[in-house]
Order: sequence, then C-alpha cells, then structure tokens
Amino acid sequence: MCGIVGYLGYREAAPVLIEGLRRLEYRGYDSAGISVMSDDGALQTVRRAGKLAELEGAIAQHPPRGRVGIAHTRWATHGPPTEANAHPHTNETGDITLIHNGIIENAGVLKQKLLELGYTFTSDTDTEVVVHLIDHLWVQGASLEQSVAEALSQVEGAYGLAVVSTRDPFKIVVARNGSPLLLGIGSDGELMAGSDAAAVVGITRDVVYLDDGDVGVLDRTAYRTFHLERGSVRRQVHQVTWDLESIEKGGYEHFMLKEIHEQPQSLRDVMRGRLLPEDGVARLGGITVSDADLSKVERITIMACGTSWHAGLLGEYLLEDLARIPVDVQYASEFRYKNPVIEDNTLVLAISQSGETADTLAALREAKRRGVRTMGIVNTVGSTIARETDFGMHLHAGPEIGVASTKAFTSQIVALVLFSLYMGRRRNLSVLEGRELVAALERLPDQVDEILAQTDDIRALADEYFDARNFLYLGRGYQFPVALEGALKLKEVSYIHAEGYPAAEMKHGPIALIDDDMPVVFLAPRDAVYGKVVSNIEEVKARHGRVIAIVSDEAPELVGKVDHIVRVPHTVPALLPVLTTIPLQLLAYHAAILRGCDVDQPRNLAKSVTVE
Ligand code: G6P
Repeated sequence: MCGIVGYLGYREAAPVLIEGLRRLEYRGYDSAGISVMSDDGALQTVRRAGKLAELEGAIAQHPPRGRVGIAHTRWATHGPPTEANAHPHTNETGDITLIHNGIIENAGVLKQKLLELGYTFTSDTDTEVVVHLIDHLWVQGASLEQSVAEALSQVEGAYGLAVVSTRDPFKIVVARNGSPLLLGIGSDGELMAGSDAAAVVGITRDVVYLDDGDVGVLDRTAYRTFHLERGSVRRQVHQVTWDLESIEKGGYEHFMLKEIHEQPQSLRDVMRGRLLPEDGVARLGGITVSDADLSKVERITIMACGTSWHAGLLGEYLLEDLARIPVDVQYASEFRYKNPVIEDNTLVLAISQSGETADTLAALREAKRRGVRTMGIVNTVGSTIARETDFGMHLHAGPEIGVASTKAFTSQIVALVLFSLYMGRRRNLSVLEGRELVAALERLPDQVDEILAQTDDIRALADEYFDARNFLYLGRGYQFPVALEGALKLKEVSYIHAEGYPAAEMKHGPIALIDDDMPVVFLAPRDAVYGKVVSNIEEVKARHGRVIAIVSDEAPELVGKVDHIVRVPHTVPALLPVLTTIPLQLLAYHAAILRGCDVDQPRNLAKSVTVE
C-alpha cells in the first residue's frame, strides 16, 4: 500500500530517502512527501500530489539538508490524493511530523475530541489525528517514544508509522500494528526504517522485522525495540538475500516486461533442490509437520486475494486431481467475516506474493483462532504471513515490483504442483505418475523461453485488438483459472473491460455479448476437455465473435476456423496453465503499451494491499 522510509546517519538524508521512495513507489504513487531535520534541529517538510517525480522536482533546487528524516509515498484511503492529504503530517506548532500506513479506525472519535480541545485539521486523513494526539499527550520532559506510546494506547486500527520531533531531536520512532515495518541496521551508525526491505537495501542488508505492538527507537547511538504491552524486546537481525539488481529494470522498459521475461529463471528457482526425479516426488524442506500429522489432513481451505486467489483456484484442481484431497478456495476478505465452518482436520493454506495482504492475514489469524494448522505459500521472506503460518513454502521468485503480478503467479502454480505431488505421493499417486510430472516440471522453464520468443507475434495481436472495449476469456478445467487471470491482467494494465468464464458457462449469459466486435480468447490446449472447448469455439464463431485460440499443438481442427492461433509447447495438463498464462501476460502488456497506459503503476491499484 503506502511506502515508508526513514534514515538516520552521517549522510545527507534527502537523497537516501528519495532513493528509498523510488524503490517503494510501486506500493503507492498518488502523492509523496519528505521531512528532514537539520543539524540545528529544525524540521523541513515538502509534499506533493502526484508521482514521486513531482516531489523530486520540488526539492531539486533546494533539497532539505540534514541527516535524519522520514519520507512517504501514498495510496489514498481517507481523502483524495492532494498535497494537503500527502504525508508527512505535522502538528500545529510544526515540531512533530509523522508518516503512516494503514487505517486508524477510531479516527472519527479522536478527531472530535481533539477538535473540542481546540486543534484544527488541515487534511481529510485519519493520520493527522495521530500527530495532534501525540502533541496533546506529550508531557513536559517526556521522550518521543513515550509520547508516541501514550498516543498509540488510544489508537485503534492498523498502522505502520514513523515520527520525528524537534522536542526530542535526532531520533526516529517507528511503530507497527498490522502494517509491515522493518528496521535496517547499517554500519557506522546508519539506521533505516522501511515498510519493506526494498527501502533499505541501498544502505544495508541487515534487517529487523517488527511484530505487531512493537516500537522501534532509532537514535545516534543505537536502536532498540520495545513492545507496547510487554516492554523491552529483542528482535533477531535477518539478512536480505536478494541484491539491488533484482529491484532495478535491468535494460527492460518496464518491470512488468522484465518480470515476464524472468519466468524461466523464477520457475527454476521455485523448483531448485525440490525435485527427486527417481522417486517421482518433491522434497519440501519447509513442510516441517510430521508425516503422521499430514496424513490426518482431510480437507484444505485455500485463502488468498487477487492473482493469488486465481493460483489458489488452480490449487483446488491440482490437489483434488493429484492428491485426492477435497479443497475449497475462499476470497480471504469473505472468509474473515463469514463465520466459516472449519473442521478439525482441515489445513488452511494462505497464498500471497507479498505476505502482507491485510485480508489474507486477517483470514489466516481467524483460522488460527479456530485451532487448525496453517500453511503459507509466500514470496516475501520475513513477511507477516510467512512468519505467522505454521509451515510453508517460499517461492524464491525475487522481488516483484510491477503492480500486476506475473512471475509470482507462475511460481505459485508450480509451488502448488510441488505440494500436490508431495501430498499425492503420500496417498494415491504412483511412482510412474510422479516421475512423469517431475520430468515435465524439468522441461517447463525452457518451454516458457520458447513462448517468450514469440513476443513479436503477440505484439502484433495486441496491435489488432488494443482498441477493443471488451474482451472475454474462456477456459475449462485447469484452464478456467487461467481465463480469470488473463482477464484480470488485461483490465489491470490496459483498462479494457475483460471477463473470464468457464467456457461452458458462456451459454448462460455472456453469449449475449458476442458480436463481431467482441474478441474472445479461448484457452484450448490439448487436454481432456479440448473437444468440449472446440464446441464452445464453434458457438462463438456462429455468432461472429473474433476468436484468439491458445493451443498446445498443431490443432488442425481450429485452423481456418478461428481468427488467430497462438501455440505453446505441449506438456502434462497440470502444467499447461503455466504455459498458457505467458501469452496472456504479453497480450495484456502490449495492449497497455499501445494504449499509452502506465503498466508498472496502473491507476488506482497498489502492489500490496495492507488495508482492508
Ligand atoms: C493486490 C495486487 C495484486 C495481488 C493482490 C494479492 O491487489 O495488485 O497483484 O494479486 O494484491 O496480493 P498478494 O501479495 O497477497 O499476493
């Protein structure tokens, strides 16, 4: 969602903070701001509506000077993205400034109280309440951290925040409750704070992840952490393993394109060390639960949001098919409020690229309250979901910066295939079936490369259709979730309205939309339902729809019948979704470029939705 960065050390803070914001901009990009404390203890704050470039422009001539500061990039929740609503927010006397991610749920009540006390508000944000509250509760002689803790004892809701004040200068206080925050521990007294590791890796790879209820105090001598209720706590220092290159564009025009092209590698990485070809099984070191306990699992409930939910839906097909375990897939946002029935031997599986999505996290916590085992399939090491699940698998896809998820999705599919294989081989799957799947997995990265080599053809396709107003994506079985994901990708980055449907459901409504203006993408690889899909294609053609068919071999039945054929290499049905997804990602990307859209930062979206 929004991005937080803080710096304290011997360098000028502003360039370090701007660099951190640049790396965090994918988290929110409708306004940005910076506060720097000068060496003589004065605060200088600059804020701008719009993208980070606006802020950079505003400080280019006279950058605020000083070696302590905080900065923020915003994704609006309360109040439109104006300069007045941009962070940092400052108290009336201008000596406390604060940045915040999350939502203060009792902001209304607190604001009323503060108004009665005579405070005036200059923004529509919930955040501004907190800065006035700190001001109001600050007693003579108290420290910044004491005053922040005092204020937080009255605050309800989710926050990751950072505060500086001239009343207790050369110090940054940060606090976390439900919104990610970490400290970066540099050498030579340099300290940072960030809402994710990308904000701090320019300075250090040593990070301390804060837990809910934690407060971090950074000053010129050291850092310390305490818990709002339990007092002093020590949190472990972790190493960030990926390097700066992985959060830079590396010669590609956009992160989305770079990440699409990284997929052969990210797929190798999710499989690395996990395939046992001889035994036809997967080795999953992160599944730290005993075989006896695993064999008790009678049902799996998957929860996720967005693209990760689509991966979850594929997980249902995979786990039922390969491991014969009944699976239900829930939108995390629905699960958390619906008083779900969770039977004893259920395993709850949370899938999340970021590991920070607020709804997925809340659903996970609800499941934990009901005492069931929980597993995570997560990309971001050290994220909250990775830490709060009992066991799990990391994707090792490296940071994903493009807001529309691409490489994380295909890695999630492969992780689910590996997990299904792992469970299946403990139950019903024969060694021969297992070996066939492992062999197909080994071929997968090169097959993705073959599809990427067709980029020019897919760009030509985009050229023909980029001005369409609507798109329909249809698939059956394993290809139904791919249809949903293909439609989501197109609407996210190109703003063309697109719907995904199970191909046969078309007859129950969407068929009414089909005319010669309606492009219909059919996922038609050679699998058990291929013949059925061909019939659905006939139905669309009979109504003059324009058909783009994604096929996995020669498909002679379709030659001359459909308008365009895109070929992907053939593989086992369980892995075809990885291959059929790639052309849909490229189609969305090129359509968006041709329409002049900002593919890496599509309007209104955010990479990681850490608020409800
Ligand atoms: C946001 C992103 C999507 C993502 C979803 C779930 O909406 O824009 O790309 O699929 O959140 O995120 P997660 O990090 O939990 O996978």
